[in-house]
Amino acid sequence: MLRNVLTLGRSLRSGQRLAITAKNASAQIQLQNQQRFFQMSAAVLHGHLKKPNPGEELHITFITKEGDQKTFEVAEGDNLLDIAQANHLDMEGACGGSCACSTCHVIVDPAYYDKIPEPDDDENDMLDLAFGLTETSRLGCQVHMTKELDGVRVALPTMTRNFLNKDMN
Ligand code: FES
Repeated sequence: MLRNVLTLGRSLRSGQRLAITAKNASAQIQLQNQQRFFQMSAAVLHGHLKKPNPGEELHITFITKEGDQKTFEVAEGDNLLDIAQANHLDMEGACGGSCACSTCHVIVDPAYYDKIPEPDDDENDMLDLAFGLTETSRLGCQVHMTKELDGVRVALPTMTRNFLNKDMN
């Protein structure tokens, strides 16, 4: 059967016409079953985000570089990078959340800053390299939503620095 599938696949790629026989019809069905389909889903279901349970929604407001405020309902455990990217905000996240860049730099509302666990050494090292560092700066990929952070406001800095980009060297 595998050989029939491979032969049929080669023939289809080369544009060669095939007579439908019981043998290759079976192989054709097997090929069709291997096709993949695109599906669409709500932004909140992208990345590592999970839909919050009813009644357990947490809220976060991002202040964009242009000064707009955008509020989202999120689930406990979501990190700020995933939330921003799922909602098409301008947060690059060049290292994919592995604490190796500073392109997910956010400035946290001082009223909430102390409710976030302290940054570890790796995060502090990256923050030291961020443009526009403030007293309440954090890396979005390292901050996870908790009940204590419900209602938090974070601002996106006007610039970020991507040390993963060779052009910066
Ligand atoms: S995405 Fe690179 S440090 Fe957060």
